[in-house]
Amino acid sequence: MGKKVLVIGGGGREHALCFKISKSPLVEKIYCAPGNAGTAEIAENVPIGPMEFDRLAEFAASNGIDLTVVGMDDPLVGGIVDVFTAKGLRIFGPAKNAAILEGSKAFSKDLMKKYGIPTAAYETFNNADDALKYLETAPMPTVLKADGLALGKGVLICKDLEEAKAGVKELMIDKQFGSAGDKIVIEEFMTGREVSVLSFVDGKHIKIMTSAQDHKRAKDNDEGLNTGGMGTFSPSPFYTKEVDKFCKEYIYQKTVDAMAKEGREFKGIIFFGLMLTAKGPRVLEYNARFGDPETQVVLPRMKNDIVEVFEACIDGTLDKIDLQFEDNAAVCVVLASDGYPEKYEKGFEIKGLENFAGAVDKFVFHAGTKSVDGKAVTSGGRVLGVTALGSDLKEARKNAYAATKLIDFSNKYMRNDIGKAIDEA
Ligand code: AMP
Ligand code: GLY
Repeated sequence: MGKKVLVIGGGGREHALCFKISKSPLVEKIYCAPGNAGTAEIAENVPIGPMEFDRLAEFAASNGIDLTVVGMDDPLVGGIVDVFTAKGLRIFGPAKNAAILEGSKAFSKDLMKKYGIPTAAYETFNNADDALKYLETAPMPTVLKADGLALGKGVLICKDLEEAKAGVKELMIDKQFGSAGDKIVIEEFMTGREVSVLSFVDGKHIKIMTSAQDHKRAKDNDEGLNTGGMGTFSPSPFYTKEVDKFCKEYIYQKTVDAMAKEGREFKGIIFFGLMLTAKGPRVLEYNARFGDPETQVVLPRMKNDIVEVFEACIDGTLDKIDLQFEDNAAVCVVLASDGYPEKYEKGFEIKGLENFAGAVDKFVFHAGTKSVDGKAVTSGGRVLGVTALGSDLKEARKNAYAATKLIDFSNKYMRNDIGKAIDEA
């Protein structure tokens, strides 16, 4: 009998996870809670929310789930892994005391400082008066970060004192991100290219996946508002052998060891958000989960059976896994609802999905979609992630943009410059 796997989440990342898990010969059936119209094609969607830990655990227990995989940050930071583990259920992801690596920016900065992991200089503040006073003499531009989770929006880059003061008001007084802003980190502004590096961790060992780069702004040329991510490419041509060597020496294993030394053994995914500065790579942030839409370009390039890797992380045997990626490239272009991330309309039928059926070099990962009367309709800001492979980045980009033309829905919007940086490599 094969395994039954439950994936928690309902975005593009979770569809990509279901897709990769479905390739495992070890797996008999996949469930996805809550899922979307895309996951429904390869998994059975379960109408339970990601924060309903007891109901999810009850579902896992009564349906004989062998392995649960958590895609999202909120349930991890909220302690879903502890709830499952206490009930004897196998789950892939960090326990609550380790997910704090993403859940608190102050915690992660203090950890890096204590263990000498390269990151931007910073100060932490518990009240607005102290923060405002500090800003009077702080170098500008400066970066304000809400301590807690804020849907990826709790980071403000402020070009001058006036903007920084307004930022402190927004985060700490007006509480735009609720209690996430009770504490803030004020950090040195750095410049350089950004790279996302995902890794598998088993508490002691770490295996690095191939690199990727995200495009966070809504509009071409990195203009417009910050979004969840408008597209990605993998690998990053800027993640050179030298960068890799530096990070292996000063960042990756050191982070895993630091967490273990703190009594917060980390099992799951560590996502290193890196900035390649003139002084060398620096950690911008840690996430305790797969990236979205990084997952949509990284997993289609992964050679291993991902379920074996998940199991090895849980069992502490990751050192036995030879993690391998194809020597190719992938580009993902997000098709969004025009107006995202602000106001947008939804509920439009999506046409052309059948063009991707059975394809091995192009995939459409659903994010904000749902099934209505057997038809996929738009139900969110980021609707689909169209991913294509190629022998190199340029070919992958050409293929991805060609594939976006196969899909149509009212108010379809995308960036036209995903992967433009490839030309500068
Ligand atoms: P984070 O959520 O910490 O990754 O921050 C979101 C984005 O803000 C990053 O992807 C960077 O583009 C930018 N950012 C964060 N910290 C800094 C920093 N210290 N200097 C410059 N940009 C930053
Ligand atoms: N793409 C960035 C993230 O998942 O946080």
